[in-house]
Amino acid sequence: MTRAIVITSGKGGVGKTTVTANLGRMLACLGNKVVLLDTDIGLNNLDVIMGLENRIVYDIMDVIENRCRIKQALIEDEVAEGLFVLPSAHSYDTSKINGQNIKAVVRSLKEKFDYVLIDCPAGIEVGFHRAVSAADEAVVVTTPHISAIRDADKVIQLLKSYRLKDISFILNRVRGDMELRQETVGVDDVREILKARALGVVPEDDDINILSSSGRLPDKGSAGYDATFMAAKNLHYGTDFIYDAAKKYKGFFGSIKRRIKKRL
Ligand SMILES: Nc1ncnc2c1ncn2[C@@H]1O[C@H](COP(=O)(O)OP(=O)(O)OP(=O)(O)O)[C@@H](O)[C@H]1O
Ligand SMILES: [Mg+2]
Repeated sequence: MTRAIVITSGKGGVGKTTVTANLGRMLACLGNKVVLLDTDIGLNNLDVIMGLENRIVYDIMDVIENRCRIKQALIEDEVAEGLFVLPSAHSYDTSKINGQNIKAVVRSLKEKFDYVLIDCPAGIEVGFHRAVSAADEAVVVTTPHISAIRDADKVIQLLKSYRLKDISFILNRVRGDMELRQETVGVDDVREILKARALGVVPEDDDINILSSSGRLPDKGSAGYDATFMAAKNLHYGTDFIYDAAKKYKGFFGSIKRRIKKRL
């Protein structure tokens, strides 16, 4: 059965769009047909992050206003087979778009795909409600910073008022060296605070951007690849494996890496 999953956060800039793009690619690598739906109307970031912005002909507003069929608006990813993007609109006029429109778009995408990942705008205003009301499940992205965790907690309380089958979280931009020095909250603490399932831990990693925007997936074994692949497998198979971002800073060579990182 197709799963429509909203990727949300409350706090802006924590990595929702990056996580949506990377999870989508990994789910497609697992053999699924995946579509990413950008509901951040007017701030179309998903197509930019995925390097697809020059290939947009139609967007979600064209679909909603019947200027094209949904199939015509879908852009196929060049990196992962079976992955498509339905881009958001460039214009800021959101008056013509409502929860029912988004629900109808998601309903027709569900007929063609195994996963519909909905990239949610920041905040908890109307755009949030539009995106969440079309979803069956939610993944809340947070960073290990107190302000982001507090917003994630608020969002989870809000999400509980929707009829969602599952709410989990991804802890993004984790600094393994800081975690080892106990200078930042770890995934167990976040799990306890949010009282939600941890879908994954994604480290702070420049390769994450390569994973999103370049014409290739990064090498297996890079932190960004492994962590995101693990989260995608947890999502798909229902497992609970958690990437250990602190692993490379443990042991003799790890302690050297840790000191170098601290100096940087
Ligand atoms: N794990 C990571 N490691 C390094 N950089 C990251 C990571 N995750 C996200 N980023 C960077 O953080 C920035 C914000 O990410 P992104 O646009 O995905 O956030 P967002 O939550 O979608 O923002 P908005 O709320 O504005 O929609 C981007 O520059 C992205 O490359
Ligand atoms: Mg975004």
